[in-house]
Formats: sequence, structure tokens, C-alpha cells
Amino acid sequence: MSTTTPRDELERLSREALAAIEAAESGEQLEQIEKTALARKGPLMSLMRGIKDLPAEERAPFGQAVNAARQSLEEAVVSRRDAFTAQRLAAEASDTRFDPSEPARPLSHGHLHPITRIRREAEEVFMGLGFSVVDGPEVETEAYNFDYLNIPSHHPARDMQDTMWLDSGHVMRTHTSPVQLRAMQRAEGKPPVRVIAPGRVFRNEQPDATHEHTFHQVEGLMVDEGVSVADMKAVLRLALSRLFGGSVEVRLRPHYFPFVEPGFELDMRPAGSPDDAPWLEILGCGMVHPEVLRAGGMDPEQVSGFAFGMGLDRLAMMRFGIEDVRWMMSGDLRFLQQF
Ligand code: DAH
Repeated sequence: MSTTTPRDELERLSREALAAIEAAESGEQLEQIEKTALARKGPLMSLMRGIKDLPAEERAPFGQAVNAARQSLEEAVVSRRDAFTAQRLAAEASDTRFDPSEPARPLSHGHLHPITRIRREAEEVFMGLGFSVVDGPEVETEAYNFDYLNIPSHHPARDMQDTMWLDSGHVMRTHTSPVQLRAMQRAEGKPPVRVIAPGRVFRNEQPDATHEHTFHQVEGLMVDEGVSVADMKAVLRLALSRLFGGSVEVRLRPHYFPFVEPGFELDMRPAGSPDDAPWLEILGCGMVHPEVLRAGGMDPEQVSGFAFGMGLDRLAMMRFGIEDVRWMMSGDLRFLQQF
């Protein structure tokens, strides 16, 4: 008569479990086998419980044998599972619809509009010179856009051709100059005022390559005691040199703007250019007209100031080689994605 010893039983269980593991055809099957064969209350562990019936000297070696069997079954499960994973990856790799070696599609991310870039550069430059950046409304009153700026009612700038009037009697601001008044009024008669005001402006233009109904300016204003044309020229030369990334020389040509006296157009070219090198007209500027200072709550007997206004679209066009201003506001991705 043959008696089965716990040793025999252990061997049989191990053999059967190993065979089942090898025969598993899927990860799910494997998991099932793992759950039954290696479970806490499974057959192997119940062998452990019989350990107390063994002669004392056999107990320890038997316990070790059960643990060793358990460990080798666990290893068998792991290597079978690895084999399934490798199989699956190989199948995926041979699937012609999925090529894991193909480079990922590039992530597209947004970027700044060329005008925004130029505007931020101008802000950086002027902030570095002690100016702060202020904002003003795009829908203005006639008073701020024209009267306080000493623009008489017969001035062509008020013409129906130039200005977009709203039914309410407001105007879409035709320039950033009204922000000068708002900045001075905020200072409540106390200089200094050193601000720039970038923003959108609007004109009733027939759009072409160099004209758009919506465009961008930076206004500048510095008011203090004893501010002179020399200060204006020095500040603007320094700012333009920084903005254009190289020292420039500037010249002032007298020009009429109602809100300054004297008024100028400022031209620039690289410093050290030959005498006959061309000048580039870059902005309008001048000494703030006494009427404008007064409208801003400043005393023209005490303080003086300079102001300037610069178009941002043309700067961006020069910088990026853009030929038509209408592209700026077009929202056309083929244009925008070039920057
Ligand atoms: N506001 C003027 C324009 O839109 C530009 C300008 C000229 C602004 C001279 C100024 C200035 O502050 O002093 O054409």
C-alpha cells in the first residue's frame, strides 16, 4: 500500500500548478491560476498547516520546501506574464496601422502676435527709462480725443472721413493722445508724470497696404519742472537705440500737431551713418501745448513736458518684413504662423 506523504503532495501540487501556468493562454487565465494556486487559503498554504503532524526534525526543512515551491511558482507566473507582454508588443509592432517608431506629431503651441512683441519691447524699453505703462479707453469722448488736445473743431482730423463716430456721440479714439490728459488728471496737478500708453486706435480709412481702420500706437508723455526739447531728444534717441538694438542718431523736423508747440517729426538712422544716408521718419513729438497742460490740470507756468506718438504697425512691419498692414488684423493663420 502506498501512502502519500506531505512531500509527495507538495511535489504534485507544484507540478500541476507549473503545468497550468505554462498552459495559460492569456493574462486573464494566468491571473486566475495565480489566484487559486498561490492563494493564502490555497492548497500550498494548507500543506503548511499540516506541518504540525510531522516529526519535529522534518518540520523546518518541509516549511522551507513549501516556501521554495511557492517562490518558484511566483517566478513562473512573472515570466509567463512577461512573455504575454512581449507577445502583445510584437503584435502591435507588426500592426501596420500602428508604427511605434514614428516620431510624435509635434505639439503646436501659440505665440505672440508681431504687434504684441513690438509693444512689449517698447514697454520694456520705456519702463527701463522710468516710464510707467498706462491704459485708456478705446471709446472716447469728443473732448478727450479732440478738444482737450487743442484740436479745433474745424480741424480735418474731426472730419467724417477720418473719425468713426458712434451714435452716442462718442468716438473710436483716433490716436492714443487722449491718454495724456487722463494721465495728467490722475496726477492732480502734481508732476512728474512719466507714462507711455500703448493701444489700438481707429480711423475711417479706406484700407490699403499702408492704411488700416484699426492700428496701434504708443503714446508717451513726460511732464515735470524744466523739461526741455533737449530732454525729449535724449530720451527718444536712447529709447529708439534700445528698441532697434543699435545706437541711432535722430533729427527733428518742425511739424504741426495741434497739441504740441513746438512740434516735430523725428527721423532716425544708425549712428555714424554717412552724411547722405537716408533718414527714416519714425514718430511725431513736441513740447506739450500750454492749453493741453492746462486741460490736464497742470500749471504751464510751473511745468513743461514733451509728448510723442509712434505707430507700432510700421515698426512691426519693418522688423518682420511684413509688406501689407492689412495682414496684421486679418486673423489669417497662414500669416500669423510665420512669426
Ligand atoms: N497723435 C498723433 C497722431 O496720431 C501722433 C502724435 C504726434 C502724438 C505728436 C504726440 C505728439 O504725442 O506729440 O498722428
